[in-house]
Amino acid sequence: MEITAENKKDAHRTLCEEITGQDAGEEFTLKGWVMRYRDHGGLIFIDLRDYSGVMQIVFDENIKGESFKTAKKLKNEYVVSVTGTVRNRPGGTENFHLKTGKIEVLANAVQIINTCETLPFQIDEEAEVNEFTRLKYRYLDLRSKRLKDNLIFRSNFTFLIREFLNKRGFFDIETPFLTKSTPEGSRDFLVPSRLNHGHFFALPQSPQLFKQILMVSGFERYYQIVRCFRDEDLRADRQPEFTQLDIEMSFVDMEDIISIAEELFASIFEKLLNITLDRPFKILDYEEAMDKYGSDKPDTRFGLILTDLTDIFANSQLNIFRDNISKGGAIKAVCLRNGGSLLSRKDIDGLLTATKDFGAKGLAWTRVGQDNQVSTNGKIAVVPTLEGGIAKFIAPEEKNAIMERLGAKNGDIIFYQADTRKTANAVLGKLRLYLAKKFNLIPAGKFDFLWVVNFPLFEYSEEEKRLVSVHHPFTSPSEKDLNILELEPLSVKSDSYDLVFNGEEIGGGSIRIHNPSLQEKIFKILSISPENARLKFGFLLDALSFGAPPHGGIAFGIDRILMLLRNESSIRDVIAFPKTQKAYCPLSDAPSPVDDAQLKELGIRLYDATHKNIEY
Ligand code: AMO
Repeated sequence: MEITAENKKDAHRTLCEEITGQDAGEEFTLKGWVMRYRDHGGLIFIDLRDYSGVMQIVFDENIKGESFKTAKKLKNEYVVSVTGTVRNRPGGTENFHLKTGKIEVLANAVQIINTCETLPFQIDEEAEVNEFTRLKYRYLDLRSKRLKDNLIFRSNFTFLIREFLNKRGFFDIETPFLTKSTPEGSRDFLVPSRLNHGHFFALPQSPQLFKQILMVSGFERYYQIVRCFRDEDLRADRQPEFTQLDIEMSFVDMEDIISIAEELFASIFEKLLNITLDRPFKILDYEEAMDKYGSDKPDTRFGLILTDLTDIFANSQLNIFRDNISKGGAIKAVCLRNGGSLLSRKDIDGLLTATKDFGAKGLAWTRVGQDNQVSTNGKIAVVPTLEGGIAKFIAPEEKNAIMERLGAKNGDIIFYQADTRKTANAVLGKLRLYLAKKFNLIPAGKFDFLWVVNFPLFEYSEEEKRLVSVHHPFTSPSEKDLNILELEPLSVKSDSYDLVFNGEEIGGGSIRIHNPSLQEKIFKILSISPENARLKFGFLLDALSFGAPPHGGIAFGIDRILMLLRNESSIRDVIAFPKTQKAYCPLSDAPSPVDDAQLKELGIRLYDATHKNIEY
């Protein structure tokens, strides 16, 4: 927190971090919380905390007997007002971790403004306290330096976004929270309508349709820092309500969106972190991302790149490999440098179990072993060769080809997957991340931004037995693929782009369809009947038919970005009042049952009126 001339003006008190050594001898009044209390007999020390920082206060029995008596009654987290004189701390007692660590305030007067119950956990202590308790008493946890700094960082971050976009001619426009439930996304949170029984609003999963409609209205440059709601299974990087920076622009192509987004990040990093980002950011085609990293959000801070060995194994003695290839499958591999010394035989067995969790049927491996002596033209040459694992089934020329393609060296370990190309990539993609974490292969302090572009427009959903959109149904197909849209929908690419930061998807967007008949065609391919399309998306189709400009946009996950920038492992740590993994708020006890009268008013009767206890 920076104390500036604007925010320090307060007639009643001075902030801890406003005071410096130059103020020695001056008298100030500070107000805040007792963070630490130490009774040294004739001297009592407290660390007083306010939103700016911490100041050590000293009460001396010999100086002001009255305030010393009050100080005796202080306890942790009492709210106090202290008036005293600034002085330099005696040599050897400075605290160089604190901004105010060279000074202290000798109290002349103290007033207890409010007391505090026994704390359920000590604030700012590293001690293991379960998350439920922390969230139940979130207001206490938010007093800790880490969480407080995270939220202040968040406030500065969103301020800089607004400043940048306002200067670039973007309008900040709010869109409804009570809106229409539309299919083709995650599950909606529904809100029953009291005035129209049996009708429901949905909380928006994103302002997608409204921002497109604003383009039809002619605003051309829109943004919103907006809450979105998705009733999906939660993970460390997901919350049921989260915040997006939502952007939409008219008369643009993908390059325009990419360029404004890069400028925005560059400007924020410069101002907030004093970091100059390497630009332009890298761009990777979706196909290449899947092929080399087995992920559409690859972490490119380290190697372990997936390599295709299908052609080398075409005539393999290994039946499983050969059969897999003849069925149209692939053989992919990753090479772990020095894997031989990093992994014991037992570790390799452990990896086998891990890869099964990643969806693998098995995990084949070989080591690049001790040098093999070969005689060529009467001369003995020493070359490395593959050994261990499946090596005995690999012919010498195949071994050489594998090592050459992977650039494998003595001591490396190679892991193989024989499966459909999709599964082999997915399994090795996960194994790659697992190995990188286990062996610390990810360099610290890197800010690795990467665009992944050219996603397929559709994918086949086994669950729904139909095509579904990879992004959303409003994404424009690539112009070059329009002629195969209905013939080969799975080969159609889209004008879409995701932004990946250190292996996390932090944003995604696309150029949109602005032609109502193309939009209707897409609904048809998605097996959404014309009646259903009209029912759910009629308002969008109508809007597109009234002079819709070409437009496109993007949305960034603010919580995820902040989690990464603050080095936190969960987005909960950058949100003031987050929910648990079970979408429950221990602080307010939401969701909770409502009165029968309230339900009646809404025209709702519960199937099962017994209120089960919520699982946390
Ligand atoms: P998308 O669904 O990719 O795109 O969401 C954009 C970004 O929002 C973040 N995000 C989440 N963060 C926390 N918790 C969640 N449950 C969660 N879900 C998503 C991610 C993601 O990249 N309307 C489109 C954007 C567009 O096309 O303009 C959309 O919402 O970081």
